[in-house]
Amino acid sequence: MRLEYSYRTERFGAVRISPLQRVVEIDGSAADNEVERVQGDGSTRVVGRDTLRGIERDMVIVVPCMNEPRRVIEGVLAGIPHDCLIVLVSNSDRTPVDRYDIELRSLEEYCRLANRPALAVHQRDPGVGAAMKAAGMPEIVDESEGGVRRGKGEAMILAMALAAMSGRRYIGYVDADNYVPGSVHEYCKVYAAGLALADSPYSMVRIAWDSKPKVRDGRLFFSKRGRTSEVTNDFLNRLLAEYSGFGTDAIVTGNAGEHALSLELGLRMRMAGGFAVEPFQFVELFEQFGGVLPDASPVPPEVGVPMLQIGTCNPHFHDNKGDEHVQSMRFQALNVLYHSPVCPPSLRTEILDFLILQGALEPGQEPLRERVYPPVGTLALDRLYDVLAGEATSFRQFGHKVTAVTPRTVVPIERGVVHDTVRETSVLA
Ligand code: GDP
Ligand code: CO
Repeated sequence: MRLEYSYRTERFGAVRISPLQRVVEIDGSAADNEVERVQGDGSTRVVGRDTLRGIERDMVIVVPCMNEPRRVIEGVLAGIPHDCLIVLVSNSDRTPVDRYDIELRSLEEYCRLANRPALAVHQRDPGVGAAMKAAGMPEIVDESEGGVRRGKGEAMILAMALAAMSGRRYIGYVDADNYVPGSVHEYCKVYAAGLALADSPYSMVRIAWDSKPKVRDGRLFFSKRGRTSEVTNDFLNRLLAEYSGFGTDAIVTGNAGEHALSLELGLRMRMAGGFAVEPFQFVELFEQFGGVLPDASPVPPEVGVPMLQIGTCNPHFHDNKGDEHVQSMRFQALNVLYHSPVCPPSLRTEILDFLILQGALEPGQEPLRERVYPPVGTLALDRLYDVLAGEATSFRQFGHKVTAVTPRTVVPIERGVVHDTVRETSVLA
């Protein structure tokens, strides 16, 4: 894969945000094992196929799904590179028709045909709730139903715990409501290329899709920006500008559902629930690695957190969930930014003004506090596995099994987040 080279990185402490870099060639080179090769005038980078493959072998691809048509999910699965481990986390209805059962059958058939493994779980299974509780995250459990709370962020947290059990080193997310299997394929390749280029144990890659096609007056219209992202990106950029004193439009992926990161980083990050999850990643990285909070211990100079934003060639053709959905996503993004200690008072005022103008708040009201969960690295994964295997009837493993877990110590990097309870598993073929 060949990518534009990105320079003029924005910094927020140890977090290095690269401005948008585009995919130049989806398949950019003959097989080679070089991480990167400077091309011609130095304006592009190529990541060789062997390097991509090496990362794919170490990557889990999570598909969060909720009532998507079977055919659409099957297309998404078909786009995921063969060497990635698939994790399906569903919040689909189980009555009057058990849609999760339909998803399981599709996944099982696919794994059989493609000869590859996958894990699947339903987030509202009470056994899954019991497992998360036993592992040390009772706050994610919906007490009235017993399962994990509804929400995309909650699904992503559960998926990260499963990914950590697999022993792989990277995790990437792709939405299940994507009609173009080829775009899913490109996203996963971009993850691998970006993680290879990032060259840090703590790295993140976020996708900026080329366009979102919509039907307008009987014609296809390829709109450049998402309506939610415009608002989220604008406020995140204002935050950067408040600290640097220089206006910027560097952040273009505030709501990127499609993103990947090293588990080394992911296991250390708190995560927000619902649709606050993606914008909160910025807030959390700025809090942990920004070096601006008075109570934060200094970030060691060797810790760098590169965040790459990569523009794909494929359009993002997904379900249009309507205006209300867009509004609620915008508000969730602004809620987490508003309540962050890194948000300066002037920006807080701007957020309040915006929310009042949009009719989301009455004057004098405070934005809602979104749920924020502790890092997945604080979970006891051995207990999670035992309860999942014993009580979660929705938990399925196709192709191979995760075995019992053995303890591993992860050295804390800062702010006293100790992760000595992180466990590592081995995966049997
Ligand atoms: P948008 O693309 O940002 O407008 O958001 P979507 O509504 O399309 O959601 C993105 C993806 O997350 C889709 O694949 C949804 O099925 C999935 N999703 C949304 N909410 C939940 C949830 O509560 N649980 C799970 N497991 N998936 C969810
Ligand atoms: Co969608």
